[in-house]
Amino acid sequence: MRILSIVGARPQFIKAAPVSRALRPAAHEVLLHTGQHYDYGMSAVFFDELHIPEPDYNLGVGSGPHGRQTGQMLIRIEEVLLQEQPDWVLVYGDTNSTLAGALAAVKLHIPVAHVEAGLRSFNRAMPEEHNRALTDHAADLLFCPTQTAVDNLAREGVVAGVHLTGDVMVDALFYNAALAEERSDVLARLNLTLGDYVLVTAHRPRNTDDPVRLRAILAALEEIARERPVVFPAHPRTRHAIEMLDYRPGPGLQIVEPVGYLDILALQKNARLLLTDSGGMQKEAYLFGVPCLTLREETEWVETVEAGWNILVGADHDAILRAAREFRPQGAPPLLFGDGHAAERIVNLLCHIVPDGV
Ligand code: UD1
Ligand code: UDP
Repeated sequence: MRILSIVGARPQFIKAAPVSRALRPAAHEVLLHTGQHYDYGMSAVFFDELHIPEPDYNLGVGSGPHGRQTGQMLIRIEEVLLQEQPDWVLVYGDTNSTLAGALAAVKLHIPVAHVEAGLRSFNRAMPEEHNRALTDHAADLLFCPTQTAVDNLAREGVVAGVHLTGDVMVDALFYNAALAEERSDVLARLNLTLGDYVLVTAHRPRNTDDPVRLRAILAALEEIARERPVVFPAHPRTRHAIEMLDYRPGPGLQIVEPVGYLDILALQKNARLLLTDSGGMQKEAYLFGVPCLTLREETEWVETVEAGWNILVGADHDAILRAAREFRPQGAPPLLFGDGHAAERIVNLLCHIVPDGV
């Protein structure tokens, strides 16, 4: 079985690592990196730390408007698919790389398998919402992290090929959490004390591209930083947006470069509180039992909110501050999102389902 896996953006490297590890002994994997993310700290660091094999293809597509970026990927992926003739194309998540991969494959009648299928925010203004829905409707095999995702697909009439596998990000976290504890010195580097700092990430266009929202978030962070240190590894999109505001952080608020996976796991595990608009980090906070304030109005990971470990605060300055002071979830969070063996289930399904159409 020949499987061509497509990745391109930070969370996809993390998701692909456990799948590739399980896949390689069972099938021939060809790895394609679209080049959507390209800075060392957004791409190569994850290949190094997670021992992901060197991509067979790096398309070097880089940044650009959605149409151009996705279009260039589509053209180049098609060329690779024609050359490689895989039995399956495997795509991850909801980025432009995901959609380009799925679209290139279906046009050539190559079956598509989608890891992290069925997620919905029900916010059509998010670029990811289109990428997810279009990819799911093109896919032949749909690997869902949660029952909510299975239900979302059923409401859209997608039932064939749908499997509840659990979340491969749980696999990655379980595999690397102890290693992070052992190897990461990020707390010492950033002068942070165990359990006594707040960790922040934000990169959604809704927050970075709207100066009113971005200023409200930064103002709230400055107030939180009066009580305890706040560390904010900023995505390049966010760094550019902050530079446009001509903003200088006040005391206690450290805005730093993005960190690698082991460092971010160590930062999350030992934080008192996490503020984020990242999908992956809402789950990781939950798995570590760290309270999370989500800087959005909705989430795909509704289970974290229902379980009482995540609050949607948007970019509302007062709501952020109120929740930062008062939110203290009690008890241990129940195990959600799988048992750390999602990748094995995915590989089993992929290798035992003979695709049609090739
Ligand atoms: C993309 C995904 C988003 C995902 C995120 C993960 C889409 C539509 N969005 O958003 O779903 O949550 O990745 O991080 O696919 N940049 C650099 N260096 C890099 C990469 C990006 O400087 O290595 C800057 C560029 O200015 C670029 C901007 O970041 O224009 C945005 O990058 P892009 O890949 O278009 O979208 P993300 O915001 O990263
Ligand atoms: N992450 C990281 N370094 C950082 C910020 C995030 O390794 O500086 C990890 C994070 O722990 C999670 C993944 O990147 O595993 C999430 O990616 P991101 O927030 O970029 O995208 P999203 O999950 O929102 O699609």
